[in-house]
Amino acid sequence: MKYQAPKGTYDILPGEIERWQTLEARTRGVMDLFGYREVRTPMFESTDLFVRAVGGATDIVRKELYTFEDKGGRSLTLRPEGTAPLVRAYVANPALQQTQPARLYYIGPMFRYERPQAGRFRQFWQIGAELLGSAKPIADAEMIDLFVAILRDMGLAKATVLLNSLGDSTCRPVYRERIRAYFEAHRDSLCEDDRERLERNPLRILDCKVPKCAPIIRGAPSVLDSLCEPCREHFDGVQSLLRGLQGIEFKIESRLVRGLDYYTRTVFEVHAEGLGAQNAVGGGGRYDDLVKDFGGPDTPAIGFSIGMERLIASSGLGSDLPRVDACVISMNPEAAPEAMRLARSLRDQLAGPPSRRRPLRVLVDVAGRSAGAQMKWASKTGARWAVFVPRDPEGYSVRNMDEGKDEPRQSDERALREFLLERRAAAEAAT
Ligand code: HAM
Repeated sequence: MKYQAPKGTYDILPGEIERWQTLEARTRGVMDLFGYREVRTPMFESTDLFVRAVGGATDIVRKELYTFEDKGGRSLTLRPEGTAPLVRAYVANPALQQTQPARLYYIGPMFRYERPQAGRFRQFWQIGAELLGSAKPIADAEMIDLFVAILRDMGLAKATVLLNSLGDSTCRPVYRERIRAYFEAHRDSLCEDDRERLERNPLRILDCKVPKCAPIIRGAPSVLDSLCEPCREHFDGVQSLLRGLQGIEFKIESRLVRGLDYYTRTVFEVHAEGLGAQNAVGGGGRYDDLVKDFGGPDTPAIGFSIGMERLIASSGLGSDLPRVDACVISMNPEAAPEAMRLARSLRDQLAGPPSRRRPLRVLVDVAGRSAGAQMKWASKTGARWAVFVPRDPEGYSVRNMDEGKDEPRQSDERALREFLLERRAAAEAAT
């Protein structure tokens, strides 16, 4: 074979795509219930945007960006995440700032040059929500509530929220220095990567998975002991609100640091069963300084992103193939135009309010096959009925493909359509 999908990417085919469509539709439904509105930003942005927001010392920026120069000599990057683009759009569009706080969401592909493995891709999809314009703990609680509502709507009952606070510009530098000094004292026992992180990003050492580093990390000072009074109060507030919400399981995880630099105060991840090593379905946190950093008004904010591949993998959602209702079979080549007209007319369904209509799914042969070959094709499509043209003097002949028997003839198109709709409803009610 000549071409394959690029490494770390995949095709979503019929049979699988239905799960994606269900997830997207349900997500939009839940977002709507919470009052969140969709924003679609470009898939590439100026490279600076991500370096600035995600942070030059992070793995994402150092190793994972898909960066290229366009013909105008601009450095552009395929978005590795959705928060920085959304904040850029928020700052650039006063319309987004009109209703405060602003509740926004996005669904789309992200790109990271990572080492592919189960649950980790180079193009992957995220659902993200961002709440801009509130510094209150109740905003954090709403975010987590929304996250859990999306999981629940997908039938994912067993999920745990890991919660931490990274402090703010007052207390984090103090903690950073404490932890740097601590790891410096254990420098010789740390892995190579961690020794490098000591200078650039000592907090990330807490996230190291190398076994020999584990005991040192366990003994490290906790960020929660370094929080300043306002950060401590905020964190307590978030926890007490979450305790008041039934069905949200959370655990304090003082070693949770996240892989992006824009966070302040609350950070969280949601873990689901059955995802193995890549078991974070999603994560997020507060980023109170980012809007201001991008030249916007001082706007505290919080958000999260969910990895759609991971959510689908853990949801156990089935893939219901949409069933073909009828194939129109031309008994001779001259009847093909009539087949096409009949199919069109059967697909129309004018009765009932638009939201309740579910017209018939009707196919015709476009390959010029014989009547016998069309019947074989009709049965392959899984159609419930075959309808034959040209119409007999007494009406349309209809074959029930499931039961392998003929139905009563139907006098005209209208009668045929009503008959098929009614029988479909009855068949669906029976199952
Ligand atoms: P993140 O933790 O980098 O956060 O990504 C969120 C989720 O995206 C992960 O938990 C995972 O489910 C999924 N994900 C990340 N990388 C991959 C990959 N290579 N393959 C498959 N899935 C992946 C963010 O992106 C932040 N923008 C979240 C946020 C929003 N914070 C505030 N607002």
